[in-house]
Amino acid sequence: MTTTIPPVSKICCIGAGYVGGPTMAMIAHKCPHIDVKVVDINADRIAQWNSDRLPIYEPGLDEIVHGSRGKNLTFTTEIDQAIGEADMVFISVNTPTKTFGVGAGRAANLEFVEKCARRIAEVSKGHKIVVEKSTLPVRTAEAVKRILSNTANGATFDVLSNPEFLAEGTAVDDLLQPDRVLIGGERPESIGALVDVYANWVPRDRLLTTNLWSSELSKLTANAFLAQRVSSINAISALCEATGADVDEVAAAIGTDSRIGPKFLKASVGFGGSCFQKDILNLVYLCQYFGLPEVADYWEQVVRMNDYQKERFVTRMVRTMFNTVSDKKIGIWGFAFKKDTNDTRESAAIYVCRDLLLEKARVCIYDPQVSEHQILNDLEYVFTDGDNKISEAKRELIDKHVTFASSAQEASSDAHAIAVLTEWDEFADVDFTAVHDTMKKPAFIFDGRNRLKDLDLKAKGFDYHGIGF
Ligand code: UDX
Ligand code: ADP
Repeated sequence: MTTTIPPVSKICCIGAGYVGGPTMAMIAHKCPHIDVKVVDINADRIAQWNSDRLPIYEPGLDEIVHGSRGKNLTFTTEIDQAIGEADMVFISVNTPTKTFGVGAGRAANLEFVEKCARRIAEVSKGHKIVVEKSTLPVRTAEAVKRILSNTANGATFDVLSNPEFLAEGTAVDDLLQPDRVLIGGERPESIGALVDVYANWVPRDRLLTTNLWSSELSKLTANAFLAQRVSSINAISALCEATGADVDEVAAAIGTDSRIGPKFLKASVGFGGSCFQKDILNLVYLCQYFGLPEVADYWEQVVRMNDYQKERFVTRMVRTMFNTVSDKKIGIWGFAFKKDTNDTRESAAIYVCRDLLLEKARVCIYDPQVSEHQILNDLEYVFTDGDNKISEAKRELIDKHVTFASSAQEASSDAHAIAVLTEWDEFADVDFTAVHDTMKKPAFIFDGRNRLKDLDLKAKGFDYHGIGF
């Protein structure tokens, strides 16, 4: 098929989430000549994108959205119309790990991607470029292509893979100055059409073009390598605690080796976020599927180490606090999976709070950006069993042992311990003398991010424990 492709003038993005929202806002901001419509089946989410309080917290995003919204950036639930008008359609919907059936706990659930592809096939006319933005298992483009080939209106399609590498909390900077933009495809003309969109602000030498499968696999591999670094340093943090070495000193020492580099060597209570665990499990599933069990086991260990790190954190708290936290108040500082985001997906805080609640502790949670509603949802979900039910005993733990505070200081008032689970900058500015005065003694702090390590809290009377020293 040799359709010539005119420059892109109308884009539709299906999925107004953490990826679709900021990415499309940046395209609209940098390409005033392109009309960008972001659509979603979730009417509440669209209403929030159209309001003064955006559904996601991301530094610098408000300005970018407000600058283009109502001009060339629209958020709407009119999905079919936006697809119909567009020459390029991005699929940016969620691809969570399957919770049922074949590949449960490992494979990606492609239900939402498939539904989008079917919708595109149904409402399209003429020629369109369909861009996979969601992280997908390798060879998903093949499935999308097959679905798109069954169209009622004689429409034709090119499929591209354009994985997103932005990290939450720094999405705007990452989008403004990406290390690279990866575009995988088959036809040079369609690849070129997307290259031309990004070339409005990204230097050409950072626009990498590959075949479809390399592009898909590169996204999974990048996340697996990054997560592997965190699990590697977390594994060493356990050894540091046992031997008297200091993991931050070890990280600084190895990070100066230019072959290793300094980034992603911060020991922590465990990595979270919507991507790392999901993408590694995806990789594990792929390896098993292709008959490579040794490779699958190798990558699975990165996730196991992460689970161990979260469990180890609670075990250390309990041991240190005289082997019991039952009925003790623990101030939880931070619930997001990292600072500068309101996202809690796979946050270590969910699992730490779960395990503390199972030890019958009372947790009082403060996070500057995450809503109480979201935290309760997460805790209910983690206590829900395979039949989608939550037992009376666990319901009671949530109802009676979880409270919320509107500041870090309030969360720790009268508490036996503080657990720092997100590295929010504001935690370093707290009045620790006042915090100490209101806490039970000994006043324990368990810092899952080593965020308060430089504040000499031992001198202020705290029994301070970090990760890996
Ligand atoms: C990640 C990838 O970085 C990004 O390229 C991809 O597009 C999506 O997945 P994200 O999950 O938003 O981005 O955040 P990231 O900064 O990678 O952090 C992931 C988790 O690892 C967080 O919980 C973070 O706290 C933790 N982490 C990161 C550490 O514990 N130590 C580190 O040194 C770095
Ligand atoms: P990500 O972090 O990958 O952006 P999110 O969960 O934040 O993931 O966003 C995905 C969005 O995709 C959600 O707002 C969801 O409602 C939307 N979505 C899922 N399926 C469809 C669909 N078939 N049509 C339109 N939007 C969809």
